[in-house]
Order: sequence, then C-alpha cells, then structure tokens
Amino acid sequence: MSTDASITGHYTSGSLLDRLKAALADDGADPDHPTIEALAPYDQFHGRGLDATEQLAAGISVSASDHLLDIGSGIGGPARYMANRFGCKVTGIDLTEEFCDVARHLTSALGLEAQVTIEQGNALAMPFADATFEGAYSMNVSMNIEDKAGFYGEIFRVLKPGGWLVLSELAQGPGGAVPYPAPWALTEESSFLSTPEETRAGLEAGGFRIERFDDHVAESKAFAAKVRAMVERGEKPPHRAIAMIHGELGQAATENMAEASRLQAIIPIEVMCTKP
Ligand SMILES: C[S@@+](CC[C@H](N)C(=O)[O-])C[C@H]1O[C@@H](n2cnc3c(N)ncnc32)[C@H](O)[C@@H]1O
Repeated sequence: MSTDASITGHYTSGSLLDRLKAALADDGADPDHPTIEALAPYDQFHGRGLDATEQLAAGISVSASDHLLDIGSGIGGPARYMANRFGCKVTGIDLTEEFCDVARHLTSALGLEAQVTIEQGNALAMPFADATFEGAYSMNVSMNIEDKAGFYGEIFRVLKPGGWLVLSELAQGPGGAVPYPAPWALTEESSFLSTPEETRAGLEAGGFRIERFDDHVAESKAFAAKVRAMVERGEKPPHRAIAMIHGELGQAATENMAEASRLQAIIPIEVMCTKP
C-alpha cells in the first residue's frame, strides 16, 4: 500500500458524519444545525483542540481581505475558526476525501461557504498558483509527511512574498520511541516525526525566516491536568475529536499520546516563519 493510501485509510471510516451527529445529539446540540461552539470539541483534530487553535490565532495578524491556506485541514474546524474570527477567506486542502466531504457539509451548515473553501488534494502538489496566500498554517499534519523539503517548498511557493507560515505540530522529543497507534498513524510506517532542530533547519533551507520557535510543553501539561480534573468531576473532556474520529482505536491512541507526552517522546511545537 502507498503511504498516501495508508494515511487516508487510517483517517477514513465511511461513517464519520453519522458518528459526529450522534456525538452532537448526545451533547444536547442540534446535529443538523450545530453551532461553531458545539462543534469545537470534535472539529479541532489536533493536540489541545480549540485551545491550540486559539493560541495560534492570537499570534497572527490577519485582516478581512486576507486569504489564508490551511494545509491538512481535516474536517475544517481551524479553517472555520479563522474565517469566523478574522472575517477572512480560508482555503483548506486535505488528502482524505471523507474529511473534505464532512468539512464542506459543516461549513455549509454554519453558513461559511463564502469564506471557507475545501479542496481535496496533496500538500506536496497543491493546485494553487504561486504567491496566492497572505498566510498559511498547518496543525498536526507534518507527522504524516515524509518529504519535508517538498512540503516546505510547496508552502513557500504559494505564499506571497512577506507572507507567513505557522506550523503547530508534534516533534520527536528526547524521551524515546513513540508508541503506536497514534492519532495520526496506526504504525510507525506512516509516521514521520522530525526533531525541533530538523524542523528549524528544514524551514531555513526552504528559504523561510524563523520569527518564533516555541515549545508548548507547559501548555500541554496544563491541558492534561484540566482534562483529568474534568473527567474526575464526571464531565466530558473538552477535546473529543480523537475518540469521535477514530472510534475504538481512539482510546489506545489517546493513552499512547498521554504516555508519549509524559515521557517527552513527543513535544508540541509552534513555529512562526515568513517568506522574505
Ligand atoms: C491529525 S489531522 C489534523 C487535521 C486538522 N489540521 C485539524 O487540526 O483539525 C491530520 C490531517 O492531515 C491530512 N494529511 C496528511 N497528509 C497529507 C498530505 N500529504 N496532504 C494533505 N493533507 C494531508 C490528513 O488527511 C488529516 O486530515
């Protein structure tokens, strides 16, 4: 099986929209007319969910006339969040067809189709002209991409000069091997973690200027403590995307991530860089 097929196979169930609607109904939300807030526990499919998206958004400057690119847009939560917060346009691109279908469905349910467009495609060969976007971001995607130079090169190509890129991702830390399944990969064969140093060097080699390079270990620990306290009180955790998207596999993936974070086998990082 090709790497792309094993990645899309890992994310595809054929029943995602039904499971999302069931989860919304269980929360007491209207499954056919959900609000952006009701979707947030499910459509922010990355570590710390909405908290990480809000943190990313707080670090960028966007005007309503800007056109942003969301690389590996999943079911579209971050793209809709940015469009809603900044009034800008966002184009999302994602390899997984079912995610794109659900992303378009939710975008239309929220009435955001004029601002948010979703394309099915590969981040390594994007169907966009050179110098299209004022800014780009990617949340928890590069772990699925082996050809990092190709990835950074494509993003650099489609950004306007002066444009910015924020990568919010999981890096390989010093804490040893990562246990699988993980939320992004069933096995090590489709997982391509880089160290923070490799990420920095790769972006610089691709022509980007690094403006900020942060780890979010403290935020991740605080989030884990918040989740534990909520669960002990009998409340639902704030971030339920992994369980909803991956079903049974989600439990093992979540436990593995908690252990990998505790050991610092993975480190959440956020990098802001610009195209000179
Ligand atoms: C963990 S999910 C993150 C989704 C989204 N960024 C979010 O935070 O809600 C990783 C996503 O990357 C997408 N992906 C992986 N490899 C890709 C590639 N080469 N091109 C485009 N999308 C890719 C997957 O289909 C999946 O939707």
